[in-house]
Amino acid sequence: METEKKTHTAAEQMTDRDLSEQIKKVTKESHVRAENTELMLSFQRGKVTLPQYKLLLCSLYEIYQALEEELDRNSDHPSVAPIYFPAELARLKSIEKDLEYFYGQDWREKIVIPAATKRYSHRLRQIGKENPEFLLAHAYTRYLGDLSGGQVLGRIAQKSMDLKNGDGLSFFAFPGVSSPNLFKQLYRSRMNSVELTEEERNGVLEEAVRAFEFNIQVFEDLQKMLTVSDNNLQSSMTQSKPVKASTLH
Ligand code: HEM
Repeated sequence: METEKKTHTAAEQMTDRDLSEQIKKVTKESHVRAENTELMLSFQRGKVTLPQYKLLLCSLYEIYQALEEELDRNSDHPSVAPIYFPAELARLKSIEKDLEYFYGQDWREKIVIPAATKRYSHRLRQIGKENPEFLLAHAYTRYLGDLSGGQVLGRIAQKSMDLKNGDGLSFFAFPGVSSPNLFKQLYRSRMNSVELTEEERNGVLEEAVRAFEFNIQVFEDLQKMLTVSDNNLQSSMTQSKPVKASTLH
């Protein structure tokens, strides 16, 4: 009995020290908040609209452009190399394809990047230069999220917007990952193999909480933009002024 207890405690301490366990624990509360943003609730209720999804794709483009450029540039860094999986995870090309589907060939001139998204990408570029080990926190937050809840959200989005043949939904598809669950296990073990000083580890954990916070702010910001544009549309209709075509709709 006593030995059993000891073994159990030793095993617990082992996992407690794993970065993958610690990062999940410290971001647990933020994950709940992210899931409960208006935008994510629309997804979960099967009510995501085309304006919401298009604007989200614009933000994801800016975010993944910064994240993937910084990961590429730092791919030999000891904290980045073990979790560098561009063939399996890179999202930028998929997002470009989706943007072209929704906005047409000149999508680059049409996309809208809200202020909170700019702040997020700015942070990514800053840490890419100053603290590349923090990129791990951001890669974890986005890619493991995309491989988890993201998979369900993709199927919901397809139904909500009645999209056919995966059109506009490349972002959610990971053709290079045959089993998201197995891949997540591999990713976690790679995260746990990264050697970090106590200070660096704390920095990474703090950065993961920040990464969630950036995402929450992006969702809130773009939801606000949509509400404002809806209100403008409403008030211009009630005042029977000509309705200005919104770039978002
Ligand atoms: C994991 C759902 C939004 C980041 C998960 C898991 C589910 C889930 C079911 C798997 C949990 C497990 O395997 O133990 C959802 C739903 C969301 C949502 C329904 C919104 C509608 C987000 C957002 C982010 C995010 C916005 C970050 C930007 C993550 C991460 C994991 C995860 C990093 C991996 C946790 C780990 O195993 O360490 N999510 N999620 N999720 N999600 Fe979400």
